[in-house]
Amino acid sequence: MFHFPYNRNGGAVSLSTFSGYPRGWFVVAFSDEIPVAQATPMRYFGQDLVAFRGEDGQVRVLEAYCAHMGASLAHGGKIEGCTIRCPFHGWRYDGSGACVEIPYAKKIPPKAHQRSWPVQERNGVVMIHHDPAGNAPDFEIPVLAEYGTAEWLPWACSRYQIKTHPREIVDNLADRAHFAFVHNTAIDEFSFEVDGHTATQHTRGRAFLASGGVDNFSSSTTYHGPGYLLMRMAGALQNYMLLAHTPIDENNLDLRMAVTIKVVGGNREKTEGYTRLYLDNLKKGFEDDIKIWENKIYREPALLCDGDGPIGRLRKWYRQFYVEHVPVSALPVD
Ligand code: FES
Ligand SMILES: [Fe+2]
Repeated sequence: MFHFPYNRNGGAVSLSTFSGYPRGWFVVAFSDEIPVAQATPMRYFGQDLVAFRGEDGQVRVLEAYCAHMGASLAHGGKIEGCTIRCPFHGWRYDGSGACVEIPYAKKIPPKAHQRSWPVQERNGVVMIHHDPAGNAPDFEIPVLAEYGTAEWLPWACSRYQIKTHPREIVDNLADRAHFAFVHNTAIDEFSFEVDGHTATQHTRGRAFLASGGVDNFSSSTTYHGPGYLLMRMAGALQNYMLLAHTPIDENNLDLRMAVTIKVVGGNREKTEGYTRLYLDNLKKGFEDDIKIWENKIYREPALLCDGDGPIGRLRKWYRQFYVEHVPVSALPVD
């Protein structure tokens, strides 16, 4: 049962009281976390799942527990072609979740079906689409043209499990005032805009480095839906950061962070060294955020002052992913 922060009559209720999960695309793995022909267990949205890459290279994600007697496909499931066979009695399921074979039965029961999730692999990550009502995706994650080209290094990756709610991380996008205190960064210009499923922050500022130097940077950071953020930053280095957070359950989430840097002066090795330093620096910044997130409460509404960023506008944007989705085609025509 899911609860939405709006009731059906359109009245808003506080985000601080809701339960359930947002709707949209969520990263569940870096591509290399899901090898070919191996069942990979994962837990997201309060459910145990199994992911597997078939011989065609495509990833499938199903609920973990077999419709028959509940064995876990994620532990000992055998990948055969583009299907997975349960380790207990050998029932075999395809990527849609349909049971396609029972080795000892003449008839497959009509209910022999695992729940499956829409999967997309793009920009080096595997994503599933979550919608509590089971509706199809209504937005796409854009292709990052630079990713995978010779001029840009592969992602340098990091992953955290954090005891918090995703709304805390999303707040950061509009939270202009925390940069100075948490990240030792002066923000000289800041703007924020929302457009449908995207929310974007543009900044220009100065990061005061632990080494004593100052990095003058400009960045453009966009949430594509509720859990996938891409930041383009130009400063001492040209780079992208991907930040993706996916609920494990209502109190914990997985945060995956990755950076790619444009090769400097044709020297990949030297740029790789920069990448490691840069990622370490970003991780340090996030670990400062994490300490705050894991120990705070959520105030809604927050008590804001004139120097704060547009937190209210951001929260209003974020709420759309918890509202029961009504396809445009189902809306009444006036
Ligand atoms: S529990 Fe999976 S085949 Fe029996
Ligand atoms: Fe932050």
